[in-house]
Amino acid sequence: MADLATAPLVYSFTDHRVYRRESPLVIAEGDGIRIRDTAGKEYIDALSGLWHANLGFSDAELIEAATSAYARLPAFACALGRSSAESESLAHELLAASGGHFTSVYFAASGSEAVESVLKFLWLASNANGTPSRKLVVTRDSGFHGTTLGAASLAGITNQHAGFDLPLPFTVRVPRVHFYRDHLDGETEDEYIDRILRTTRRRIVAAGPENVAAMVAEPVMAAGGVLVPPDGYWPAMARLLDDLGIPLVSDEVVCGFGRLGHLFGYQRFGLRPAAVTVAKGITAGYAPLGAVLLGADLTDSVAAAAEKYGVLGHGSTYGGHPVAAAVARANLRAFHERGTQHRVAELEASLRASLESLLDLPVVGEVRCVGGLAAVELMADGAARRPFDPERRIGRRVAARAREFGLIVRDLGDVLALCPPLITSVSEVSEIVSRLHKAITATLEEKA
Ligand SMILES: Cc1ncc(COP(=O)(O)O)c(C=O)c1O
Repeated sequence: MADLATAPLVYSFTDHRVYRRESPLVIAEGDGIRIRDTAGKEYIDALSGLWHANLGFSDAELIEAATSAYARLPAFACALGRSSAESESLAHELLAASGGHFTSVYFAASGSEAVESVLKFLWLASNANGTPSRKLVVTRDSGFHGTTLGAASLAGITNQHAGFDLPLPFTVRVPRVHFYRDHLDGETEDEYIDRILRTTRRRIVAAGPENVAAMVAEPVMAAGGVLVPPDGYWPAMARLLDDLGIPLVSDEVVCGFGRLGHLFGYQRFGLRPAAVTVAKGITAGYAPLGAVLLGADLTDSVAAAAEKYGVLGHGSTYGGHPVAAAVARANLRAFHERGTQHRVAELEASLRASLESLLDLPVVGEVRCVGGLAAVELMADGAARRPFDPERRIGRRVAARAREFGLIVRDLGDVLALCPPLITSVSEVSEIVSRLHKAITATLEEKA
């Protein structure tokens, strides 16, 4: 195996100081929810790659869709008034699947590019509509929206900014929603929501709602710690945004395409976003594709911008690649034909029941689960909400132990994130949780 110090790759989201002492995990093949490394060791991938391989690693229909699309038209772009039959059909199918909620689609090649694009469309719309001051974007602590300059500026995770001279000065930062960690002693969920929304309102009012183009938010924050909002949060936030005249952009790069049990993540919470950004699960990770779905107002504004500015000065070569589009169409069919919504409801029930058994460990402060997304929050004392000393890197060590036991999970500080393929069976969920249990207890038995 290669040594990371001499590896030819710059690894994303990797602490290269730590990895210099360790070997990278290099995967050779996958089958179902399992992957095998180049030395032949097998793992259950309970993170679905990087929150994206929603149908596991050997879906015959998606592979066939890609293979036949390659044979028909291996390359083309959605630009200069041209596109491919696959991307054109996919756009129609996505809009139909939204039940008419959205009226146009812009294709990108990744989630970051989708988020970057929607920011540019929002600014273009403000200029085209004669409200050029509307350029600020509301975003939450702990949020993650990608790594291009605009998208990274939205991040509420500070390591996205350090050393990069970010964020660019167009954001209004408001609180995250993390009841377990952030509520005051004795505070109820409703009181907590009231408090954070009062802060949210205050910060937006201070910036001037008339200067705000939109709020960009994940229905459930993924990389920020799998933060499942209490029931009252989204209805109250939607009322606040309505009241202030601020549209919502739902960033569903993780939450879309079945991850929360619905085709779109916003449907889980009854939201009505002005636009949605998707990627990852749109092709179940089998091909790179991102998209922005625009509601009527933004669609009209982009059209109005053409009157004012002429040619749309935005686009990309690979956005809506015909092979990726064909895979996305097969994935959309699979969602409808295979009863994904029901499957995810079953997955959610079994994940929740299984993970709750971990609460018997005093270091497990909270388990969170929504759809096929879950987290285990580790604490020195769970009941007292006393965190571990960060120097102990407990989360990282548990994730490393889990790997020894043949399980991939993601450590987000001392939160262990799980995002297993949506095809994970009840018995596979038990296997995942039993390996995780072993990893937690083995780590606590270590000296340091
Ligand atoms: C919510 C969210 N938005 C945007 C992105 C960026 O997507 P990509 O890695 O495809 O650029 C991610 C990636 O994890 C994400 O979780």
